[in-house]
Amino acid sequence: MTKLSPLRVAMVGCGNISSNYLAHAPIYADDFAIVACCDLDGDRARAVAETAGARALALDDVLADPTIDAVLLLTQPASHAPLALRAIAAGKHTYTEKPLATNRGDAEAVAAAAAACGVLAGCAPDTFLAAPFQAARQAVANGVIGEIVAVSMTSMYGTPETWHPDPSFLYAVGAGPLFDMGPYFLQLLEETVGPVSSVRAATLSARPTRTVASGPLAGTTFTAETPTHVSAVLELERGGIATLVASFEVPAHRMPYFQIHGTAGTLDLPDPNQFTGETMLHLPGVEPRALANTGGVPGRGAGLADLARAVREGREPRASAARGARLVATMEAILNAS
Ligand SMILES: NC(=O)c1ccc[n+]([C@@H]2O[C@H](COP(=O)([O-])OP(=O)(O)OC[C@H]3O[C@@H](n4cnc5c(N)ncnc54)[C@H](O)[C@@H]3O)[C@@H](O)[C@H]2O)c1
Repeated sequence: MTKLSPLRVAMVGCGNISSNYLAHAPIYADDFAIVACCDLDGDRARAVAETAGARALALDDVLADPTIDAVLLLTQPASHAPLALRAIAAGKHTYTEKPLATNRGDAEAVAAAAAACGVLAGCAPDTFLAAPFQAARQAVANGVIGEIVAVSMTSMYGTPETWHPDPSFLYAVGAGPLFDMGPYFLQLLEETVGPVSSVRAATLSARPTRTVASGPLAGTTFTAETPTHVSAVLELERGGIATLVASFEVPAHRMPYFQIHGTAGTLDLPDPNQFTGETMLHLPGVEPRALANTGGVPGRGAGLADLARAVREGREPRASAARGARLVATMEAILNAS
């Protein structure tokens, strides 16, 4: 059997999350290899390239290099769509960190451009591919909890300025608790119970001025440009109502992350921002039990690895840009409704 060569990937954006992709890359060595690193900050690109055993390249050189098959975009959200469109026009497959774009029009343009140019475009999150979430999807499909009545989603991870060294982009238009963390929840919602048909919402910003807590910028302040607390009610196409609370206002909470309630029982899913944990099944009069975790993926990079296999197999990636565009459309509708 001939061993197929892995997709040769240039990582564009060498900031906070890049080390996580590099740490997991060896798991997916049969599917992709990070061969080049690129950043507006050339020193940063060179340092990360050295760690990765890759070349440091400028973006124009990445796009002109015929030995590079794909671009992994790990820049801030406002540049996702413009950079993805450039990469697609250069004939590169693309995989973009979430969100795909900061507005619906740009997100749909990326998905359409990839289709028109004959390349594949994918988008994080890829956590929904992990075993506990696939087990939940299967249980819903098998009718284990009956008809879906409600889904409750709580995205409260504290305030990013306490841990990110340069967090203002997380409070810019196209980020905030909804666009930054909402994709993990809304993608899992679509994966387990299907599409949303309509939304209602209310938002607020209790503390629009934030102070950076760590790194060289510690002590500096910035202003949130987007709501920092979002409550949404989402009607499901299949019937049933989901609620999402996404907040950068609440320092700590004890609510479950993601529960699916049916006429016969409840599924309690683990943190949608992780690849680990178990989905618990609660049925009346029965001791709660964990669903079997089978066939999941081990960690970040799974979506890019699947895109690499999709290139070989001539199919759409599971974490596709089309899917990413649907998430952006739902999130934009939530903000417009508030
Ligand atoms: N930090 C996390 O824990 C985390 C987790 C999951 C997803 N993400 C997502 O990953 C993306 C990046 O987040 P981050 O925290 O790593 O940001 P970051 O600010 O730490 O890093 C972004 C990097 O991109 C570079 N950059 C910006 N524009 C560029 C361009 N045009 N060409 C080349 N380089 C460019 C910047 O110089 C910077 O080094 C975001 O979409 C975020 O939502 C982050």
